[in-house]
Amino acid sequence: MRQDVAARECLSRRNSPAVERVIRLHAVAQVNEELRRNYSEEVVQLMKIAVIGLGYVGLPLSLQFAQSGVTVLGLDVDTNKVDALNRGNSYIKHISESTVATAVKQGSFSASSDFSRVAEVQAVIICVPTPLNKNREPDISYILNTGKAIGRNLQKGTLVVLESTTYPGTTDEDLRAVLEIGSGLEAGKDFHLAFSPEREDPGNPNSKVASIPKVVGGFTPECLRRATELYSKAIKTIVPVSSCRAAEATKLLENTFRSVNIALVNELKVVYSEMGIDIWEVINAAKTKPFGFMPFYPGPGLGGHCIPIDPFYLTWKAREYGQHTRFIELAGQINTSMPEYVVRRVAEALNDRQKSVNGSKILVLGLAYKPNVDDERESPSYVLMEKLQARGAEVAYYDPYVPVIRPTREHAHWRGTKSVAWNQETISSFDLVLIATNHACVNYEELGAWAKLIVDTRNAMVNVTTAEGRVWKA
Ligand SMILES: NC(=O)c1ccc[n+]([C@@H]2O[C@H](COP(=O)([O-])OP(=O)(O)OC[C@H]3O[C@@H](n4cnc5c(N)ncnc54)[C@H](O)[C@@H]3O)[C@@H](O)[C@H]2O)c1
Repeated sequence: MRQDVAARECLSRRNSPAVERVIRLHAVAQVNEELRRNYSEEVVQLMKIAVIGLGYVGLPLSLQFAQSGVTVLGLDVDTNKVDALNRGNSYIKHISESTVATAVKQGSFSASSDFSRVAEVQAVIICVPTPLNKNREPDISYILNTGKAIGRNLQKGTLVVLESTTYPGTTDEDLRAVLEIGSGLEAGKDFHLAFSPEREDPGNPNSKVASIPKVVGGFTPECLRRATELYSKAIKTIVPVSSCRAAEATKLLENTFRSVNIALVNELKVVYSEMGIDIWEVINAAKTKPFGFMPFYPGPGLGGHCIPIDPFYLTWKAREYGQHTRFIELAGQINTSMPEYVVRRVAEALNDRQKSVNGSKILVLGLAYKPNVDDERESPSYVLMEKLQARGAEVAYYDPYVPVIRPTREHAHWRGTKSVAWNQETISSFDLVLIATNHACVNYEELGAWAKLIVDTRNAMVNVTTAEGRVWKA
């Protein structure tokens, strides 16, 4: 313990980077040691926290803390969400109403739009969006606005943790600055600051917040200790790292890894297709290798709030250091070229039937960006619908999880468009069905029997027997 005090004193005097790194690694080792000894006594202490941003990340995290004996105040600028939650309703498909209602009834969770209530809590976790702006540069305005709202109400001793995915330096530079200016307090001295990336796996029923290891980096060794203590209340395995930047960089590595590997199989899909080889068969064979291989699957392009966006946070930051992220750029090029490839395959399939895209009725099956979720943000289905429409096709979509298209910034003109019904008369009225998302609840046997022509970007029809030339892979 004396060593720890000495370490913190050293750190507050601002040593050389090499010495600071030694101190930070020492702090990580200490936290690991404390984790081994288990925090159980401190864990049972009553605690009240705020989670800001009650979306796909913030809401499940709030409920996990609420189920673990912590009192959670959920804060969001969207009053519709706040009202829904306080009524015990859920607006996310995989979060049940009963989980929300139970937490509200027990008093372990409540929602509000009153940010002055940050003054009531011991810790604040920020889960707000981090999109790209129209020039594809990081837009951290949501983080900064949240930081300003917290700063005005920040009390001494509070822990502030950022979870939104972002470039290294956001927490200890950008967020720290707005918090310090707003509160007049000093990070690492008057309040604690940390970064801990979220690892949500939407659509995976076996993915539980409590069992996914949580990486945590602190602004100082004491910040790390506080953040570890907080997350230990709700999450089984904590992975301390030496700084906020190391934690921020960890998340970017994870998402870049996915983006690059998806680009690889997307490229091989096109190459192998020209050779008459089916990429799906190849991946299924390759994944039998018991070591050194991990399967990734091709698709119509990238979607969602993470993989198409996060790596470009790093690209932007790397430029400040005169560095280029060539893998990220190349993966981005390949992945964003996929919708164009798919549209070409649609044209080939129609051409085979003496039809053109222009004037054809095309149904896009699946608007969500991945199977079994209701999240259609950044979905390549929008790009496909727009490209087909631009070529003169009459386009509709079917998605049981997205019955009507919500307002979106990027694809505003689809707002209010409704999913078609699932029945033989409707499905057979289209010249072609383009499978963009392979929701498990879709009856692919029925699709095979009803649809005149199918272009399949997800290998969804692999086990369905259809007439020769009815299904085209893309
Ligand atoms: N969705 C995922 O699977 C996932 C996984 C890992 C990491 N992330 C990251 O987590 C962060 C949040 O993503 P999400 O998917 O939960 O986003 P989301 O859009 O589902 O939720 C964000 C919430 O923040 C609210 N909000 C916006 N500005 C606010 C403000 N100033 N103050 C308070 N609330 C505000 C919005 O109303 C919304 O409810 C992003 O950085 C994202 O990259 C997301």
